[in-house]
Amino acid sequence: MTELAAIAGDRSPASDLDFWSDEVLADPFPYYRGLRDQGPAVWLERFSCWAIVRHKEVREVLLDAETFTSSQGLAMNAAANANVDGAMITSSDPDHKRLRRVFQRPLLPGTVGKLKDRLAGLAQTRVDELIAKDTFDGVSELAHLLPLSVVTDLVGLTEEAKGNMLGWAAALFDSAGPDNARTQAGLQVAIEAVGYLMELERSELDPEGWAANLFRAADAGEISPTEARNLLMDYTGPALDTTINGLSGALFLFAKNPDQWTRLRAEPELLNKAIEEALRLESPLRAFGRVATRDTRIGDAEIRAGDRVLVVYASANRDERRYDQPEKFDIARDARDHVAFGYGTHLCAGMHLAKLEIRTVLEALLPRVKQFHLISEERSLHNTLRGLATLILRIEPV
Ligand code: HEM
Repeated sequence: MTELAAIAGDRSPASDLDFWSDEVLADPFPYYRGLRDQGPAVWLERFSCWAIVRHKEVREVLLDAETFTSSQGLAMNAAANANVDGAMITSSDPDHKRLRRVFQRPLLPGTVGKLKDRLAGLAQTRVDELIAKDTFDGVSELAHLLPLSVVTDLVGLTEEAKGNMLGWAAALFDSAGPDNARTQAGLQVAIEAVGYLMELERSELDPEGWAANLFRAADAGEISPTEARNLLMDYTGPALDTTINGLSGALFLFAKNPDQWTRLRAEPELLNKAIEEALRLESPLRAFGRVATRDTRIGDAEIRAGDRVLVVYASANRDERRYDQPEKFDIARDARDHVAFGYGTHLCAGMHLAKLEIRTVLEALLPRVKQFHLISEERSLHNTLRGLATLILRIEPV
């Protein structure tokens, strides 16, 4: 082997894919497949990072949080990583475990389950209103409903923050890209958002809310006051548009696959499987980064200590090595091992709430909607999230 080949070999297999270009974001799946065909880990030359793209290896990387740490940030640029420094999602054990115990309290299945009636009431009223309309936007008129009316309330920030949460969240996710226009625009708003959270007075918070509870945990000595404040970012960033995109993605899939809606109406016991399957296919959170803390190997790829590694959940979820006909929406598929919520240490802390919100809306629709007719849809191009800007639907009522 020549010296040059040896150097190139250190970074192979390699791809010059423009992973964050508009073209790739609009329809990333053929590109993900191309990367998967190259290997489980592929060097993205333009961004100097490894993309981990196959299901088995994505789970292995996520499970080995010592070798692939989150503590040097999940974003593809230093400014975004510095902005959210101290958040739980970028912490490591043992601190991570301690923070997560406090953070997760309102999000455990038993606690979240108590919200069911409140969510169901809102969803049913909204479905009645939408059925009476000719067409509606499944994103702003339906998928926004529970995250924006309930989740923002539960977090219990100020009215000003509640109004800004969705924009802040989108910006925080966009800021995680490489140096492109979306990242720059996102970063500006994300820095303002974190600045606002860091200066909030405790007295401004809803005393019953999740945010105020963090400060009570600090009073009890479970976490420090600084940690309590930093955890506000973890309630603000990931709680809204992930779920919005998950639900609107599911509505889109049902509108595109009327046979699957008909089947779900006939076999409503498939609902949980259908939700997992929709999340697998749409994967609202496309990818997040890690940094290797030691030299290691994934397939033929030699990963060096200090290398940035991009974990592509959305690619793993369509890996043909794991899922038969991965592009197919099959509500009876057992897709429980998908990684749309991540895996291992940083497995999504809000997944029970997210699934409850999605389930509640679909349950409200099931007895009322014979079929969805897709009028039009518009995808939003986003560095980190996959979702729809609009989803115009007409309901054919039962
Ligand atoms: C369908 C909706 C959702 C999706 C697809 C989703 C996706 C994810 C993914 C992929 C991760 C792993 C990140 C990593 O590997 O670094 C994650 C972590 C996380 N998510 Fe979610 N999420 C959703 C909803 C929510 C909600 C509703 C909340 C809050 C109420 C939330 C809060 C979090 C937090 C705090 C973490 C970090 C956990 C930790 O570091 O231990 N997510 N989410």
